[in-house]
Amino acid sequence: MKLSNEQKIAELEHQVALMRQQLMQSEKMSTVGVLASSITHEFNNILTTVINYAKMGLRHKDEAIREKSFTKILAAGQRAAKITTGMLSYARANGDRKESYELVQLVEDVLVLVEKDLQVHRISLVKKFDQQPCAVVNANQIQQVLLNLIINARQAMAEGGTLTINLDENRAEGFAEITIRDTGCGIPPQVLPKIFDSFFTTKTADESGQGGSGLGLAMCKEVIESHQGRIRVESTPGKGTAFTLKLPLAKGQTGFIHSESVNKAG
Ligand SMILES: Nc1ncnc2c1ncn2[C@@H]1O[C@H](COP(=O)(O)OP(=O)(O)OP(=O)(O)O)[C@@H](O)[C@H]1O
Ligand SMILES: [Mg+2]
Repeated sequence: MKLSNEQKIAELEHQVALMRQQLMQSEKMSTVGVLASSITHEFNNILTTVINYAKMGLRHKDEAIREKSFTKILAAGQRAAKITTGMLSYARANGDRKESYELVQLVEDVLVLVEKDLQVHRISLVKKFDQQPCAVVNANQIQQVLLNLIINARQAMAEGGTLTINLDENRAEGFAEITIRDTGCGIPPQVLPKIFDSFFTTKTADESGQGGSGLGLAMCKEVIESHQGRIRVESTPGKGTAFTLKLPLAKGQTGFIHSESVNKAG
């Protein structure tokens, strides 16, 4: 049977949509790749803590020392669980569903994954969460955006520096704002208009083949636009760069989830 032109176009459109989805997922996995070494490092440290305190607890009969050992082992185990849970939920492919979400929680979940990476690269982290906005988001996609921006910031601070994350809300405009600011190399004005283009990069892949695909910011822009949000960049060469995300505030903020569940129950 011969396909009509409309059918051929529909088929091609379907294939493009599928490939976009695959590209998004592989972009996400490449971010995991960038973090793999520092996360493995952190697990190693956690295991060292667990092993040393287990030995100490076995060696000493004293109640207080044993209690301290168990407490340290428990804390180390809980930290490891937090990282694996974060990693698993990040890697899971999920649909387009958007829900009202506390942005502080969302940012903190991302920081669990990158803290060690920042520390290894001598970057100090400053959190300024003046407000606790709630926005309607696909949490997984926004986490991917934040991870991309944080990794870009880290890569721009080869000699170390400071990463500042601000969380604010602008009720008059109806937007929550997340700003990721670095004290890195900055972006020259002639480069700035191209950074959101797919495949635009000034980086070369590292020895493990990670990074430099030039898809990070293109993905960020696509995700933010699908949230009816905005992404803005300000940069001074030699001083640093700030990316600001604006996301629509949830109606009635935290009350939103509550009233929804009450409605369902009733
Ligand atoms: N915080 C930043 N500081 C300085 N330059 C930046 C920053 N963020 C992005 N850039 C510039 O924008 C370019 C595009 O960034 P993008 O994240 O899209 O791709 P990439 O980081 O090069 O590669 P990928 O993210 O796919 O590994 C970068 O190559 C870099 O030149
Ligand atoms: Mg990038």
